[in-house]
Amino acid sequence: MRQPPGPPNSRWLRKLRLFKFIFQPLEYFNENYQRYGDIYQLGRQNSPPFVVLSNPQAIKEVFTTPSEQFEIGKNNTDLKFLVGENSLIIQDGEFHQRQRKLLMPVFHGECLQSYGEQIIEITKQVTNQWQTGKLIRVRTYMQEITLRVILQIVFGLNSQQSRYEQLRQLLCAWLEIISSPLSSSLIFFEFLRQDWGASSPWGRFVRLRKQIKELLYEEIKARREQQPIGNDILSLLLATTDESGKPMTDEEIHDELITMLMAGHETTASALVWALYWVHYLPQVKEKILHELNELGEERTWHQIVQLPYLNATIAETLRIYPITTGTFTRRSKAPLQVLDYQFPAGTAFGISIYLTHWREDLYPQPELFRPERFLERQYSPYEYLPFGGGNRRCLGSALAQMEIKLVIASILSDWQLALTNHLLLKPVRRGLTIAAPNNFKIKVCDRFNN
Ligand code: HEM
Repeated sequence: MRQPPGPPNSRWLRKLRLFKFIFQPLEYFNENYQRYGDIYQLGRQNSPPFVVLSNPQAIKEVFTTPSEQFEIGKNNTDLKFLVGENSLIIQDGEFHQRQRKLLMPVFHGECLQSYGEQIIEITKQVTNQWQTGKLIRVRTYMQEITLRVILQIVFGLNSQQSRYEQLRQLLCAWLEIISSPLSSSLIFFEFLRQDWGASSPWGRFVRLRKQIKELLYEEIKARREQQPIGNDILSLLLATTDESGKPMTDEEIHDELITMLMAGHETTASALVWALYWVHYLPQVKEKILHELNELGEERTWHQIVQLPYLNATIAETLRIYPITTGTFTRRSKAPLQVLDYQFPAGTAFGISIYLTHWREDLYPQPELFRPERFLERQYSPYEYLPFGGGNRRCLGSALAQMEIKLVIASILSDWQLALTNHLLLKPVRRGLTIAAPNNFKIKVCDRFNN
């Protein structure tokens, strides 16, 4: 059976690999690519290999293989402590397909149309706290925006409610625990999940999780009693029933809400931080976006903004150069599978490296350069450009996320003049399960255009 290349399968090498993957993820991927190419395998203890793909044809073959051929949710069960037992990301088969079908309409078409104004309004509320002449920590404000978007659009909470503010504060504290490179080890090493009191990372994590759960259950209960139903995701989940007419339980609804929060909050905030960085690192990019916005005139609608080609290309390039998640979920084949001309036994795990695919010289010449124009010059297939993954697991929130990023960036550039404090090239760092700009990245607020 022909097998792709890969490092020797020794216990110590496997441990070293995991440390490097956690603490220096991009260097780790680059080294493997240099040595073994765009399809390589990593040995595992007592199981078939883990195969890493960044070859578009191989990616296409995996994404288009019928989904019943793979287990995906089962590989995410390590995330149960974050998202709960019922989350669609840890499910497979019919249950997973049903949940996707149920949630899909809320992220597309008419429902999405009603969110544009809310996103611009939230951006204005949050940036209103900025003062000219001051340095701001960009991450703080971008997280604030994406958290409010989740609370209002996904949870359907009204910002005037006291529960909104309580949840906002608790969620901020909770998400902060798992996002530093060190405490994100909680995700990778189960033995670190020890409750050594309220000030230990895990102790704090479980106490906050309990408080958040209680508040969400209160909200679910209150909303069950309330009519009419809104167009937020919680309303939709409350209205849904299975084939036998049974509604979702509070537990199931809670777990899907937390899933949306986990999948959509940090990821979109990281993309916003990068977008603001690149736009100010390369003044010509900012000028081109402002030119497009000015051409639309004062009466522009959010609908016109999200269709601007250069803005769109800039956001695409932001998600290309440092994709927020370096890879997709792992796909484990249930039966022997052929990919390219390699034969893999049942149980082989496939990880698609978004980062390595986005840095292929043949697709993206000089991949280290931030150049939105590449997205205006050619079209990329879903197997060449895949910041939101693909196949039957493609990100459910991709349309919402892209719309949000464009509207927030357009709104900030229209209202504020910001400047970098130096012209250093920022290096990405691990942040939980994602890759992000350094935590302390700051920008100077120089002026405000529209009061
Ligand atoms: C820039 C922002 C985002 C990025 C880069 C991103 C990226 C991804 C990726 C790579 C996957 C895995 C796809 C695969 O394995 O093929 C995924 C899955 C998912 N994302 Fe996103 N995401 C973003 C925002 C959001 C938002 C805003 C939401 C919802 C509010 C969301 C909800 C989900 C869900 C529910 C899944 C699991 C889908 C499934 O298992 O069927 N994401 N996302």
